[in-house]
Amino acid sequence: MRSLRTGLPLAALVTGAALLLSAPAAHAADTPLRDLAAAKGKVVGTAVTGSELTGGYGDIAGAQFSSLTPGNAMKWGTVEPTQGSFDWTEADQIVAFAQAHNQQVRGHTLVWHSQNPSWLTNGTWTSAQLGSLLQNHISTEVGRYKGEIAAWDVVNEPFNEDGTYRSTLWYTGLGANYIAQALTWAHAADPAAKLYINDYNVEGVNAKSTALYNLVKSLRAAGVPIDGVGLQAHLILGQVPATLQQNIQRFADLGVDVAITELDVRMALPADATKLAQQKADFKSVVAACVAVTRCVNVTVWGFTDADSWVPGTFPGYGAATPYDENYAPKPAYYGVAEALGGTTTTPPTGACSATYGVTSQWNTGFTGQVTIACTGTALSSWRASWTYGAGQQLTQAWNATCTQSGAAVTCTNASYNGTVPDGGSVTFGFNASWSGSNPVPVVTLG
Ligand code: G3I
Repeated sequence: MRSLRTGLPLAALVTGAALLLSAPAAHAADTPLRDLAAAKGKVVGTAVTGSELTGGYGDIAGAQFSSLTPGNAMKWGTVEPTQGSFDWTEADQIVAFAQAHNQQVRGHTLVWHSQNPSWLTNGTWTSAQLGSLLQNHISTEVGRYKGEIAAWDVVNEPFNEDGTYRSTLWYTGLGANYIAQALTWAHAADPAAKLYINDYNVEGVNAKSTALYNLVKSLRAAGVPIDGVGLQAHLILGQVPATLQQNIQRFADLGVDVAITELDVRMALPADATKLAQQKADFKSVVAACVAVTRCVNVTVWGFTDADSWVPGTFPGYGAATPYDENYAPKPAYYGVAEALGGTTTTPPTGACSATYGVTSQWNTGFTGQVTIACTGTALSSWRASWTYGAGQQLTQAWNATCTQSGAAVTCTNASYNGTVPDGGSVTFGFNASWSGSNPVPVVTLG
């Protein structure tokens, strides 16, 4: 049994009040994703939330990825909630973290129809005023981070599904030329940053991606600074477009870079072994399509853990869209990414069982805890879960398992009636214990 490859003990993964801990039978590939990607000449990234960049979340973000994208921290509504009053706190934090971990930053995003401050969207502006507001915004934000941002998503989601321009504040007020203007202003503020147009549902060859293709072609012909296109890749399980690589290639052939900027693969909950295997195949094929095209430079996942994903909030009943589960254990999708980057995994990718330790209630001298043993892709006919208490905790009672404690070492084996953990199923046992001083969560080992 191995712990997660974060370089820290599993106990360090527990943050705040979260007391659930997973000790997965599978472990991450021996080589971090960022090193695998580098060997292929690629960058692998994740969207992040600045406030989370500590503990286990920070360990994984720093160890596995070579690029960070602020999920929300650089959007206009975040950085200038009141006109003329700026808040760079979270953006600065993410940039500092990236620099400390030798990572690129993808700036996201300067011109969008969403997550703008209400003073901007509720205001009444002439076209000249709107242009000046946008120019100031771009100059201020790009200028602040000059030399620190590898690439900017300058314009986000400019198209409708049929390839016509989306009717936004910008399109309505400034005309389609707002795109060329924004790119030009961004280039003036940081000539070294790569400038992208980013959109969703443009992964395969279709009306929307063809509109983007035609736009990029005409911008380049007009000498407008455009360096790349971002394919967001918010995908649905089993629906990676067959034309993904072909589409990446046609953009590359225009002379621009391509990045997969927001990859996730959502599924109807609950997840099961079949869905997770399909998700692994989906992640693998997206990354492989990028690896196959020289000018595809970056694959970024939109959150690396199911604990920090936009999907459940936007698509009720859907989730499990990222490569790590909610307890920061790598899912089959993680191995799909690693394999597409040329990595080999030392764990059979067919399945795993994990033990999750949780404290369900705690009072001044005692607590009630439980351990859930869950399997996907494999099954158990008997089990033994063991852990070591680090702060003098003492078991007093257990149910649905036979538990013994010798010194700090606790071992629990199945009862006569619950040794079987089926593929896709779980077994839970509980216990009471005493504590004083502190009650740190132990690492549970199965086997
Ligand atoms: O910050 C507030 C918090 O104070 C409040 O308590 C909470 C209650 O809902 O909301 C919080 O704001 C949320 C914000 O994320 C920060 O977590 C917003 O409600 C929520 O709508 C917002 O969602 C973001 C979404 O863009 C908005 O469209 C997601 O986190 C973010 O991942 C997502 O990212 C976009 C990309 O920028 C562009 N492509 C699509 C992608 C997914 O929608």
